[in-house]
Formats: sequence, C-alpha cells, structure tokens
Amino acid sequence: GRVAVLYGGESAEREVSLRSGAAVLGALERSGVDVIGYDPADGGLVGLEALAPDRVFIALHGRGGEDGTLQGALELLGIPYTGSGVLASALGLDKRLTKQVWQSVGLPTPESLMLEPDADWDDVIARLGLPLIVKPVHEGSTLGIGIVDSREALVAAYRDAARYDARVMAERFIAGEEYTVSLLNETVLPAIRVEVPGGFYDYDAKYISNDTLYHLPCGLAAHEEAELGELCRQAFDAIGGEGWGRVDVMRDADGRFWLIEVNTSPGMTDHSLVPQAAAHAGIDFDTLVCRILAATLT
Ligand code: DAL
Ligand code: MG
Repeated sequence: GRVAVLYGGESAEREVSLRSGAAVLGALERSGVDVIGYDPADGGLVGLEALAPDRVFIALHGRGGEDGTLQGALELLGIPYTGSGVLASALGLDKRLTKQVWQSVGLPTPESLMLEPDADWDDVIARLGLPLIVKPVHEGSTLGIGIVDSREALVAAYRDAARYDARVMAERFIAGEEYTVSLLNETVLPAIRVEVPGGFYDYDAKYISNDTLYHLPCGLAAHEEAELGELCRQAFDAIGGEGWGRVDVMRDADGRFWLIEVNTSPGMTDHSLVPQAAAHAGIDFDTLVCRILAATLT
C-alpha cells in the first residue's frame, strides 16, 4: 500500500522537519516503497484523508506533529503511523510532565520549576542555583532555551522563552557531558556524546555548524554505556514510548546520569543523531527508515 511521509507542518521546527522528511522520502523511494510526501501546512487533515494512504511516516517535529494531536487524528481516521501513540507523544513533547513521570518512577532528572511572569526570581535562583536553564515546555531543537547566570539574564531568558510557549520552566543546570541514546524498536543503539567546542548544543550547533563533535563510540566504559542505555530504555518505556525515539542525558562530574528529555519524532536530517547511531551499529539510513516504518504493521 501507499505510504505518506508527513513533513513540514507549522511548528517552529518546520525547517528541520522539511529536511527530515526529504531524507525519509528519499530512503523510501530508493527502497521501492510507493510513497508520497505531504505537508499538513498545505492541505491539512482533509488533504491527507483525500490521499488515502495505507500508512503514514511521521517526520514532523514539535507541535501539531509530535505532540499527540496528529496521532489522535490518525487514530480516528484509522491510518497506522510510525512511532509513539497519543499519550506518549503528548507527554514527550511536554518536558515538564515527562520529568514528573520520570520522578514518579524514581528515574533521575534535574529538579525544575514552572516560571510565571510574576515569579519570585530570587527564590527560583535560591532553589535551582546558578547557572540554570530556562526552557519553553513544548519546544524542540533547543528553540527558546537559555542558560543564565544572573537574575537579569533569568528574566530576559524567561521573556524569550515565553515567545515560544505559554508554559516556561526553569531547570537545574547539570555541568558535564551531553549524551544521547537512540531507540529503534527493541534495539538500544550506541550512545553518542555531543561536544560543542566553546558553546552549547543549540539550534546552530545542531543543524548549521560543522564544528559540533559527535563522539561515536561515545568514550564511556562498556558497563557505563550499558547502564546509560538501560536508563534510556526505562525512560522511554516510562512515558509509554513506542517504535523509535531518542533520549537526551547529561552526565555530571561524578559520573551520574540525569535524564533531560525524550524525543518521540527525532530529527532525521544529515546532521541528526539517530541516523549516526544507526550507521555505527551497521544500519544504513535506508534500512533505518524501513525498520521504523515496518514497526507500524505490528
Ligand atoms: N526535535 C529535534 C528534531 C530532535 O530531537 O531531533
Ligand atoms: Mg527535544
């Protein structure tokens, strides 16, 4: 049957999704799949229903594609789709609720607080310390995220994040190394350590700069990488994740891992992490895409 690759969309990550979708489309074409690309920003759900695909590959990121709303619509239309279902998608795109689920099952994640326009900024600093991180709750690709080291910077970062989302949180900053673990069906793919010389892993470092270092193998001892992989599997399962996804983690100076967030529709661009991890495990890009798609049939 025919597969529709959904990409683009109307979220702040539209440009990333256009790149992910083009890559996925190419892989399915090369694999001989009857495939068509569709941008919901152009024709909405009505246009998708008119295409009458037998399956959908979701290559959308952020709100309207990764947050459970599209998944709910596809459920109602009776069209199978890749990745997580309604609830896990909605949880995964809410960084704060994701952390609350993890805390409820005893998984380690840095302490956080919700910020309001009239927050007691000194109290926020007293509780989380400096530097701290300010994040829109429902955003991806580091959009709207700031690391701040003063009260003034905190207020400014709050205002910046609030341009992206009505819900903004502050999170304790974990100084250390940044890791990401990709999950492909039953398989935990090799961890990647991301290093941004002189900076942090923001939108530019993710998609534009060629200076970002992707350490693969990640450099951890085998037992530590196994521990990290198991932690990420538990983190994904805790929110009810299905199919494929990616969990981002910090490792502090004492070697402790801290779960940061989960991505239920991770980037598939030529700079993205899941394809790199898969390649290191001997799974080329076209095979990766076909395996993600195949999981919709089970
Ligand atoms: N939100 C981006 C696409 C990612 O996690 O890869
Ligand atoms: Mg994310």
